[in-house]
Amino acid sequence: GIKVVTIGGGSSYTPELVEGFIKRYEQVPVRELWLVDIEAGHQKLEIVGALARRMVKKAGVDLTIYTTLDRKKALQGADFVTTQLRVGLLDARIIDERIPLQHGIIGQETNGAGGLFKALRTIPVLLDIAKDIVTYCPNAWLINFTNPAGLVTEALLRYSAHQKVIGVCNVPYNMHQSIASMLGVEKDSVSIDFAGLNHLVFGTHVYVDGEDVTDAVLELLSDPEMALSMKNIAPLPWGRTFLKALGLVPCPYHRYYYQTKKILEEELRAFHSGHTRAEVVKTLETELFQLYESEDLHVKPPQLEQRGGAYYSDVACNVIASIVNDTRDVQVLNVRNNGSIRELPEDAVVEVNCIVGKHGPTPLSMGALPIHVHGLLQQIKSYEQVAAKAAVTGSYEQALLAMAIHPLVPDEELAETVLKEMLAAHKAYLPQF
Ligand code: G6P
Ligand code: MN
Repeated sequence: GIKVVTIGGGSSYTPELVEGFIKRYEQVPVRELWLVDIEAGHQKLEIVGALARRMVKKAGVDLTIYTTLDRKKALQGADFVTTQLRVGLLDARIIDERIPLQHGIIGQETNGAGGLFKALRTIPVLLDIAKDIVTYCPNAWLINFTNPAGLVTEALLRYSAHQKVIGVCNVPYNMHQSIASMLGVEKDSVSIDFAGLNHLVFGTHVYVDGEDVTDAVLELLSDPEMALSMKNIAPLPWGRTFLKALGLVPCPYHRYYYQTKKILEEELRAFHSGHTRAEVVKTLETELFQLYESEDLHVKPPQLEQRGGAYYSDVACNVIASIVNDTRDVQVLNVRNNGSIRELPEDAVVEVNCIVGKHGPTPLSMGALPIHVHGLLQQIKSYEQVAAKAAVTGSYEQALLAMAIHPLVPDEELAETVLKEMLAAHKAYLPQF
């Protein structure tokens, strides 16, 4: 049987993952799931662990759930390690969102100043986990959901000795699903070429039964009623002419770059009413844990779909299933570019269609991207590489550079003000600075 270790196992998302393994029980023989957390998450871990045990019992599957605070012990002999942790918990995310907004710039979990600080807190922890993997289960695949997932994966592939690393996100998966339902066809008949970076991925072509329907999709998308989005991003409509000219299907996160002013207005409204996304999520989490505690709950509750990460387990479990079964099907993953996107460096991590088999993912070449998106992708990739360096070295200068070159931070002096404030606010979780 297969052993999976989930770090950050006390997360409210864990029932997603457990449901994913239950659904694929026949296909993927996961027999041990080790949920690992830290002391501060002990209580949540036990609540989620108990729910997970009720879920597998009710489903009648032979999957043993372990809960532990001992990461090294858990990792021994693991086949897959998934990471879904949040350094500093939601309170740190609240700070990531609120400080930039206080200064009138975008405050968001994975983009801009907030995303930078999430990366600075997270990357050293992930590198530590990767080190333990080298010691205790060197053949395991590390499947990282921890945000900012693309940037974290970039840092891992650049600085870790462990190279079996895959970054995952539910955005392409959800876009695929939404586009199929928008077109009124079965998901399986839709095939999409995805290329870009995590939370900055484009659908470059959409096919239905082999026919290119990209233009029709762009036309539909510009209908305000259709504004493809996710629970955590305001579904602002796209301009019809803009989409047509763009010629690519943007992901929901592109709004931060192409609709910065409007998104900022939305965020500031939320900020002033004390309801930034992190604050909303915090309330939601309290409610979720109240539900999880009930002995009568034996399934993933529908309330979990209020989270932006809904269905992420399908993405994670599909990767595992394809590696285990050598399926060689196509999935959208964060991997080393290797020439699949010619406008980005060979060794950069990109989010792109991959063939997934026993050897892991192999990225597919998606063809040239149009000139009008090179700039943004390259700029964000330079930012990511500088940010990764800052996280690893603890260099104040590199952190300032990362902040100042980010397109959502409009001024170097402001960048330094925000940087200083955030370094102070997150001091406890930034030992490298
Ligand atoms: C999307 C992203 C995830 C992100 C989530 C935030 O699904 O792909 O990477 O974590 O949204 O959702 P939340 O409910 O925490 O705001
Ligand atoms: Mn994501």
